[in-house]
Amino acid sequence: MHVGIIMDGNGRWATRRGLARLIGHKRGAAQVKKIVKICPRLGVKTLTLYAFSTENWKRAAHEIEGLMKLFRGYLANNLVELHEKNVCVRFIGDPTALSPEILVLMERLRSLTENNTGLQLNIAINYGGRDELVRAAKAIAAEVASGDLTIDEITEGRFSRFLDTGVQNDPDLIIRTAGEMRLSNFMTWQSAYSELAFLQESWPEFTPEVFEETLENFHSRTRQFGAVVPKQPELAK
Ligand code: FPP
Repeated sequence: MHVGIIMDGNGRWATRRGLARLIGHKRGAAQVKKIVKICPRLGVKTLTLYAFSTENWKRAAHEIEGLMKLFRGYLANNLVELHEKNVCVRFIGDPTALSPEILVLMERLRSLTENNTGLQLNIAINYGGRDELVRAAKAIAAEVASGDLTIDEITEGRFSRFLDTGVQNDPDLIIRTAGEMRLSNFMTWQSAYSELAFLQESWPEFTPEVFEETLENFHSRTRQFGAVVPKQPELAK
């Protein structure tokens, strides 16, 4: 099962408590650790976390710097544990706008864990669904221009291989915390058949128990009345 999560509400969680927004993000990073850890027990094989969107650059400079510092800390401090837990980490999004320091840490974690067979963890940093589609379209156009691909060979199946998620399955469920009911440019192509769960809890309040409850809810939804579960159509290869 593949679950995508839009981790929203860190800022509001902190503001409600009279704390700086960055304290909320710090709590959010601690929550990421707990949620990643519980995935195998909950039957989640792939987890995609929306950490930083292409639109998040519009935030105040000190908040962006604080978030980048948190990412660097997470990538550096969790390397050994993620590897020991057999987690395979990949990054989706456009890396070109990220700092060299963060790119080095991302590559170190990716290459160390690439052959791991446990949880597939996708971290979306500088990710936007439309941006991903445009990058895929450009890569396809380049192959057509070079003669490696004909226009008729562009099927849904082939197109999807050009996305950052490559051959991975689409998310079965996308969860968004903190009350907003929209996808905000998250997995625009991949979400076509995903079930959606919008929760009131903010991300720092999204405990492993809330995660488990949300998954139970999803399973009862998809198994309703014993009817045939509508499945995502097999993409033409
Ligand atoms: C949305 O909350 C959250 C983000 C923009 C950042 C998500 C980052 C983390 C959870 C921290 C660390 C992540 C990793 C992968 C280590 P918001 O600030 O938009 O909240 P608001 O809507 O209440 O202002």
